[in-house]
Amino acid sequence: MLYIGVDLGTSSVKLVLMDETGEIKKIVSEEYPLYFPKTGWSEQNPSDWYEKFTKAVKELTNECDKSQIDGISFSGQMHGLVILDENDEVIRPAILWNDGRTQEECDYLNKTIGREVISSYTANMALTGFTAPKLLWVRKHEPENFARIKKIMLPKDYLAYRLSGVHCTDVSDASGMLLLDVKHKCWSREMLEIVGIREDQLARVYESYEVVGHITQKASEDTGLPVSVKVIAGGGDQAVGAVGTGTVGHGMCSISLGTSGAVFIASREFAVDENNSLHSFADASGKYHFMGCMLSAAASNKWWMDEIIGTKDYAGQQAAITALGENKVYFLPYLMGERTPHNNPNARGTFTGLSMDTTRADMTQAVLEGVAFALRDSVEIAKGLGVSIDRIRINGGGAKSPLWCRIMANVLNVKVDKINSEEGPGFGAAILAAVGCGVFSSVEEACGKLIQVVSTTEQDPELVEKYNKKYEVFRALYPAMKDVFDVMAGAE
Ligand code: XUL
Repeated sequence: MLYIGVDLGTSSVKLVLMDETGEIKKIVSEEYPLYFPKTGWSEQNPSDWYEKFTKAVKELTNECDKSQIDGISFSGQMHGLVILDENDEVIRPAILWNDGRTQEECDYLNKTIGREVISSYTANMALTGFTAPKLLWVRKHEPENFARIKKIMLPKDYLAYRLSGVHCTDVSDASGMLLLDVKHKCWSREMLEIVGIREDQLARVYESYEVVGHITQKASEDTGLPVSVKVIAGGGDQAVGAVGTGTVGHGMCSISLGTSGAVFIASREFAVDENNSLHSFADASGKYHFMGCMLSAAASNKWWMDEIIGTKDYAGQQAAITALGENKVYFLPYLMGERTPHNNPNARGTFTGLSMDTTRADMTQAVLEGVAFALRDSVEIAKGLGVSIDRIRINGGGAKSPLWCRIMANVLNVKVDKINSEEGPGFGAAILAAVGCGVFSSVEEACGKLIQVVSTTEQDPELVEKYNKKYEVFRALYPAMKDVFDVMAGAE
């Protein structure tokens, strides 16, 4: 039988067709636009997601026997607010995970109500990208839209709804809404009251590997998928990426170098970081995880390559980088503000240390290193919580670069494992579909059978030492710039 994994990302939707042995038969992707209506705001049209998804799924399945397709599941960009009216029409463009417009709403939640109180309801603090502050923003700034809300959903759940007609979500993605009682995996009545919404406006919460329904007749006409295909809930991209790299055992760690970047630490039990520096979310295997998330990881490199240098030859630019550990240029990768560890939508990208002999290669290297240093910030927080991290699994577009993997290994002082598939979230989603259809008895069993480490990048002690010193400089840069970022934001 065949399983479809859908990775609904920020720049594109990527579909993976997998058989029950884990072999990937075909991959198709389609891009869609991202809108920045104001600096620091970020929106997309849910209809673009569905339109590009239907196009991609037709191409994905055009040569296969469609009766063999057993299930479909999803990995989704998290936290985005999708609101539908009583006719199932999208009320306004989705406000995305990297949108920073809700500082006032977060201050209300964290300061007026209190971070500890919010954390006691949800296991997390309010952060600008999360969904609940966005609902408060719509309530204040677009009351007519707020009054029309019949259904509230997350990006991948919009696809599941269009396909199955079931208003569903899953525990991992719902964790990032700041509306879920993460420990008990149910909606928090207190949070619903604070935000001013009713439970019937929210979806039913499933485990990521549970079947929510089947393809409807209408969706079958749109996509060509038979009505027998099961729709499986899926999860947030980091949790599903962790499945796709087999990061499902207690204490295992993965790092993603996608548009965003994250440090993901799997945990057998529910736990909360008392400072809320790391997110405490449910995972896609039935358990929990800690996570630190930076907003512009591979996005920083894409911006530098595509927009500034004006090239698609990423490997060629990286080939000019020869001296790791010697760079005098530093880059703060805060192009969309930053979440972990600064929680500051006003932070901005900077290059520091430029001189007349700085080369383009130095700046390219600074971008790759800046992202690695920023991820190290999350690793350091995790170490402070007593988590020991000596090897990681890596996924996301950036993981395709051997140079970036080497920088990661040495900046983080860890062994970096690559596994037999590079498709992280898409592969993870296909695995969830197979688990939901009963091919495996659990996500853990599926990962054990389908995922192997195929190569490891080891750290070099001399380079680790050099990067330790450079990390101290990197760490001093944000505090030195913070007030300037605030002044700049005030002047916008
Ligand atoms: C996770 C997060 C990102 C987005 C987009 O908390 O915000 O991973 O899901 O990739």
